[in-house]
Amino acid sequence: MVATHPTRLQGAQVKVQKLKVESHTRDYEVLISSSLETLQSFYKSERKTFLVVDKALTDDMIFMKPLLGSAFKTKRVQAGEALKTLKGAEVICEWLARNNFNKGDVLVGVGGGTVQDLVGFVAQLFHRGCEWHYVPSTLLAQADSCVGSKTSINLNNWKNTLGGFYPPSLVLIATDFLRSLSDFDLASGNGEIFKFGLLKDISWSREGAKRNLVTRDNQEDWVRVIQECLSWKSQVVQADEFDRNQRRILNYGHSFGHALELSLDRNIQHGLAVVWGIDVANWVGMRRGFTSQSVFENVRMVISETFPLLPSARLDSRLFWDSLKRDKKATRAGIGEIFLADFGAPKEHFICFDSQLVEDVTHYFKLPPCIVPIT
Ligand SMILES: NC(=O)c1ccc[n+]([C@@H]2O[C@H](COP(=O)([O-])OP(=O)(O)OC[C@H]3O[C@@H](n4cnc5c(N)ncnc54)[C@H](O)[C@@H]3O)[C@@H](O)[C@H]2O)c1
Repeated sequence: MVATHPTRLQGAQVKVQKLKVESHTRDYEVLISSSLETLQSFYKSERKTFLVVDKALTDDMIFMKPLLGSAFKTKRVQAGEALKTLKGAEVICEWLARNNFNKGDVLVGVGGGTVQDLVGFVAQLFHRGCEWHYVPSTLLAQADSCVGSKTSINLNNWKNTLGGFYPPSLVLIATDFLRSLSDFDLASGNGEIFKFGLLKDISWSREGAKRNLVTRDNQEDWVRVIQECLSWKSQVVQADEFDRNQRRILNYGHSFGHALELSLDRNIQHGLAVVWGIDVANWVGMRRGFTSQSVFENVRMVISETFPLLPSARLDSRLFWDSLKRDKKATRAGIGEIFLADFGAPKEHFICFDSQLVEDVTHYFKLPPCIVPIT
């Protein structure tokens, strides 16, 4: 459910979007506005807050002041996949223990999806579960990962192997954070927004898909786009929080995407790997009759025009197969994958790890980066 609350800030009225998400652990609220200062008027924690903050978010960023000013203790961390590991979790747990974090205190994660996953993982385990809040600072985290309760960390090179479901009790979204994002990180967040469009829009069009993305030129639309994404995602997640049925559609492009991430030695942003993972899934789906040629071609056209190209020449195919076979959803025989029967019509099919899949994927990597008619 979404509600809009006007609040007064220095004479100007600023709108705050409020979304309530139901969870088996605890229901939680997501507040969305352009500025963190606006959200602070809703955020009145009397308790000691322990902040885990991405190092990229420097003290001089104006929207950081309200957060840093209220913190009891602050820990800076280097964002990235190497952060969300057992070692990373141990460092945070030791910091909490050393500073006598207790049940009356609140752990607050401030950063992108890697900070979220680490802090959520720690919050779930420390003292058998403590309260935590999340302030997402990347587009990917604001438009997607902050809702859904997942808390996964990596084990060695294997992505999101350890974790569970443990939502923060409050999510504060300030789109001002997005101004300092790199073009690649903006594109990465747009990758997940693009995925939502394919999954939900039965009247999906190439022009419409591009219009719904976040760009530096449409800042007045940022709150709306994020609110729409989270509103749709929260409905999917509330219906199947533990990823057993309909929530699995959100994995569209992810198994192939994770395999691309690993085979590029993590030199690709998560959302971009997902976008190209979607392209691989559409290709494999088209070869098996699960996806039409028109869906494959239209989606590939937008991907190649809108997102950075996949550096396929640098791919290590051995790591690609290793990742796919170790995917959480895989069995020894194969993997359940989401395919797009049509726009807004995702469907899961089981595909075997056999010579046909090897042939399909090998052929895919030989495709030119832009669209050519497939015959
Ligand atoms: N828990 C979930 O449900 C879920 C869902 C999707 C993705 N994820 C995970 O999220 C991660 C990807 O998230 P991400 O893309 O946010 O990664 P990230 O946390 O690594 O952030 C990406 C980069 O942006 C920088 N950054 C963060 N905020 C910034 C800001 N405001 N300005 C400038 N730079 C900033 C970071 O320092 C980092 O270099 C992956 O590990 C993925 O598995 C989790």
